[in-house]
Amino acid sequence: MVKKRGMLKRREEEKIRVGVVGCGAIGSEICRAIDGDEVNGRELGLGMELKFLIDKHPGSIEELCKRLGKKPEIIKSDSSELAEILAEVDLVIECASQAAVREFVIPALKKGKDVMIMSVGALLEEGLFEEIGRKSKEKGCKVYIPSGAVAGIDGLKSGAVGWIHSVELTTRKPPSGFEGNKYVKERGIDLFSIKKEEMLFMGPAKEAVRHFPENVNVAASLSLAGIGAEATRVKIVADPSAVENVHEIEAKGEFGKLFVRVENVPSRANPKTSYLAALSAIATLKGISYPIRVGT
Ligand SMILES: NC(=O)c1ccc[n+]([C@@H]2O[C@H](COP(=O)([O-])OP(=O)(O)OC[C@H]3O[C@@H](n4cnc5c(N)ncnc54)[C@H](O)[C@@H]3O)[C@@H](O)[C@H]2O)c1
Repeated sequence: MVKKRGMLKRREEEKIRVGVVGCGAIGSEICRAIDGDEVNGRELGLGMELKFLIDKHPGSIEELCKRLGKKPEIIKSDSSELAEILAEVDLVIECASQAAVREFVIPALKKGKDVMIMSVGALLEEGLFEEIGRKSKEKGCKVYIPSGAVAGIDGLKSGAVGWIHSVELTTRKPPSGFEGNKYVKERGIDLFSIKKEEMLFMGPAKEAVRHFPENVNVAASLSLAGIGAEATRVKIVADPSAVENVHEIEAKGEFGKLFVRVENVPSRANPKTSYLAALSAIATLKGISYPIRVGT
């Protein structure tokens, strides 16, 4: 493997060696895609090899390994001996938790490894995005942040090269989807008496992620691609007619107007996670493997 200006370069016969942190809903889909080089019978042509798996719950790894054709050699439940196992890989995929971003991504970059981050909400934490940016530049590494459960990131990125005037995210969920939410409880909102759609929150993305942590990744991806977490507006709506989580993005700028609506199917393994998030990670892996890149 020859590393040149942060790009994973490989000869045809060489596989990209991958380490995965987090073997839950997203991690399992990613690992199975790498292992079989396919998703539901559709060939991927990734040319990747799983080298290590890390999960703090050994049960998650065990379950996953039962479904893999080739079990990775290195299995860990924490970041001990991280320096040694990082030497075995070219790319580290974080699909665990916000805490795992600090715990694994910074050490991986320090070792000159490329990384993919799924817990993108962590990047709204003061200074972390900048630190990751500095480290990756210094070490010549790439940091991949898939679009996750949201669509329209391509248009936002293009628009943000010029001027974007506004970005607004509206997230609709059935009222039961807000059960246990502290912000909703504190306002005495009775979720089960909601008969027609009701707005629970409207404000900047930065504040929205504090009150609705389950929304953090979508709000963070949009903020990073567009105009930042202060200027991006978020509306949270409890909608009794909603069956799935629906995200609508509206952006206005010099380029014109963009409107995107995603109706997400939940992942079977974790209903809080959209299946599209796992697919977007796998699509990003395809982007790493293929010389031709379609889309911004
Ligand atoms: N970018 C997006 O749009 C998007 C969408 C959905 C989920 N996510 C995020 O991706 C991450 C994974 O989602 P998921 O649905 O697979 O979650 P999950 O709960 O199904 O799986 C996470 C796994 O990671 C493990 N884990 C958590 N913290 C760890 C740590 N510090 N060290 C080792 N293992 C750890 C857990 O034990 C669990 O097995 C979450 O942070 C989630 O918020 C992002």
